Amino acid sequence: IRLSSFSSSLIAWQRSHGRHDLPWQCADPYCIWLSEIMLQQTQVVTVIPYYQRFVASFPTIAALASATEEQVLAHWSGLGYYARGRNLHRAAQIIVAQHGGAFPRQFELILALPGIGRSTAAAICALAYQQNRAILDGNVRRVLARYCGIYGSPAIKSVEARLWQQAEALLPLNDVDRYTQALMDMGATLCTRSRPKCASCPVQPDCVAHQTGCVADLPTPRQR
Ligand code: ADE
Repeated sequence: IRLSSFSSSLIAWQRSHGRHDLPWQCADPYCIWLSEIMLQQTQVVTVIPYYQRFVASFPTIAALASATEEQVLAHWSGLGYYARGRNLHRAAQIIVAQHGGAFPRQFELILALPGIGRSTAAAICALAYQQNRAILDGNVRRVLARYCGIYGSPAIKSVEARLWQQAEALLPLNDVDRYTQALMDMGATLCTRSRPKCASCPVQPDCVAHQTGCVADLPTPRQR
């Protein structure tokens, strides 16, 4: 029962306390991909209007692929990290040229697209296709370091490997899309870097950091 309690608690929490009104919460892999790229270095509130303008101007992967780079980057103006916009545009052209304009379903093919790393590929697989894939972005590193009591900076390869191992071990067999959204919502709203809301956390009783009074020490900051 312990093994599955993390995921089932998160899934139940997401139903009642998670975010349900985000514009990219749909079944379209293009929308999920676009939102995940915009959300890599930018907060949800900032992303929403950019996301909406982008989808209105480039409603499909084919429309994005046939736009000029100038047109695409004009929609990125103000978001920063322009390489994200360039990679998105290049990836759309690859999807048209190599996948007939349909966003690929296979993890390895998604990972091969420019601008998509292991966690983003996994998020798309889980959110768009209900594939059992583990994510590990900055927020999820913090949640898992605390819940599992993993010390050492996530910048260290061996620590990062242990976090990935836990992320995979904790995956549920069902509802992986809601579980993935729950992890993101938890990291953004409860298990925050400072002043985490442990009293409202659905997995507080099993959290190693909470049990040992070490929530503020995890994740271990980078050595400097
Ligand atoms: N951050 C990264 N992906 C997200 C998502 N799907 N919803 C909210 N925040 C996110």
